[in-house]
Amino acid sequence: MDKTAWWKEAVVYEIYPKSFQDSNGDGIGDLRGIIDRLAYVKALGADVIWLCPVYKSPMCDNGYDIADYYHVDPMFGSDEDMDELIAEAGRLGIKILMDLVVNHTSDEHEWFQKALEDPCSKYADYYVFRDGRDGEPPNNWRSYFGGSAWERIGDSNRFYLHIFDKKQPDLNWECEELRKEIYKIINYWLDKGLAGFRIDAISNIKKNIRYGTFPPDGEDGLCYIGDWVLNQPGIENFLQEMNERTFMLHDSMTVAEANVPDELLDKFIGENGFFSMVFDFSYTDIDVPESGEWYQPTNWTVKEMREKIFHSQMAVNSIGWAAPYLENHDQPRSINKYIPRQYINDYSKTMLGGLFMMLKGTPFIYQGEELGMENIRMDSIRDYDDIATFNQYSRAVMAGMTEEEALNVVYLRSRDNSRTPMQWDTSKNAGFSDSDHTWLKVNPNYLSINAEHNAVLEFYKKIIALRKSTQYADVVVYGRFVPIENTVDNVIAYERIQDERYLMVICNFQPEECEMLLHSGYSKILLSNYENGRIEDGKIHLRPFECAIIAKGFTPS
Ligand code: NOJ
Repeated sequence: MDKTAWWKEAVVYEIYPKSFQDSNGDGIGDLRGIIDRLAYVKALGADVIWLCPVYKSPMCDNGYDIADYYHVDPMFGSDEDMDELIAEAGRLGIKILMDLVVNHTSDEHEWFQKALEDPCSKYADYYVFRDGRDGEPPNNWRSYFGGSAWERIGDSNRFYLHIFDKKQPDLNWECEELRKEIYKIINYWLDKGLAGFRIDAISNIKKNIRYGTFPPDGEDGLCYIGDWVLNQPGIENFLQEMNERTFMLHDSMTVAEANVPDELLDKFIGENGFFSMVFDFSYTDIDVPESGEWYQPTNWTVKEMREKIFHSQMAVNSIGWAAPYLENHDQPRSINKYIPRQYINDYSKTMLGGLFMMLKGTPFIYQGEELGMENIRMDSIRDYDDIATFNQYSRAVMAGMTEEEALNVVYLRSRDNSRTPMQWDTSKNAGFSDSDHTWLKVNPNYLSINAEHNAVLEFYKKIIALRKSTQYADVVVYGRFVPIENTVDNVIAYERIQDERYLMVICNFQPEECEMLLHSGYSKILLSNYENGRIEDGKIHLRPFECAIIAKGFTPS
């Protein structure tokens, strides 16, 4: 049986502050807006909020470019507002996680500015500076957001590394003094009463810098950088040290944005692992090719999706803990990704929710997912506000797509699809803001998809209540994950088992009806996204996109 922990029993709700609730009429969400909406999060049943970055930032990457780790950006409010958010949430029994972005800072951070001013100062060692090759960058690595990963300083032959945008210079974790500064920041926030962190791009902190020209893998003559900056040998020393000096001193919950190969899972999330859990990208990036270029989507199948989910669930049966999620601020809306357009409806939306909310691990819900929010069609690339989207759009055009084709790719995959303002009600700007201009357009479908009278929301509330109920919580949280392989290709089904108590989750990912033979003893449908679920002669009858949760072995309450 798994060891218990408070964060294993939690349900996390991710808030993208710019788009959640505007309280001061400037068209941008803020901390007071979040405080005003805490009752909504509580009513949903979530007990932890993951707050995307609200630190001081020039916002080139919407806050993932931090200029000051100790203060809140005025766009979001004041430091006092942040204290109040932690306190108010605490009163409702809701804990707060912040985003920890320590692979890079903003180029406007004081450390970077001082490093540029005086290359002999200690700050020069905080970043990754290298001489070029006669004015050319040290190598031809492509940054994740496109273009060279090296930026030249003025007219000199000196360059700095940026794995992401050029306004996000990478920190040099080899420097002990820098590491101490980072631990000080983490402890500052944990001492304030934060419950933990979601940790950004942490697999990238160890770099294996190499000079030379590597075989290009794109029209731009550059090559994918991941092989030299992802989970490099020696990273474990940094992660271990960070854990010992910060998280372990508090009872923190940590969820790392880290693509961890199976052989490293034990070190990352095992008994004495560096983190509580890591996000698995394999099924959320199922439509993205290995090169990472999402303008060339893959042809994935439901069967592959099932295999990927089962693979990562089986791993956490024996090692560590999972963080299942359907959506986040870097993903388009899940319904547009996983379900063909003509089948998008409340059944398919709730089926996806049912599939994910019952997996083993701490579920993460991204704002608006619980409403069944959908991707947005923008008229022009100028309507977007995301560096990754601009990069993919221009790469698509460079690869020969017409502007219309490139815009269609962006419609399917842009991160801005999930960053449009939260749809609260049918009033102006979906109740998000009084302003005449919101920072990103409100999806015009808000008149029909919003938090008032919403069947998807009701389903999420029910399934969270089931997760938390005295009768089923133990099995839903701690039960073993057991895959059911013997199904038709478009059905995903699994069991959760604990001490002779069984739950089965079955999802029919197709517009056709089908039947599935049940193991003996399963006869009670606990929750379904349809009325009147039918089990007859040991078989369950499934309608299009039906999701059913069935129980056996529980004593009636
Ligand atoms: C991952 C974050 O989730 C994403 O939004 C950001 O652009 C990059 N890391 C860089 O910090």
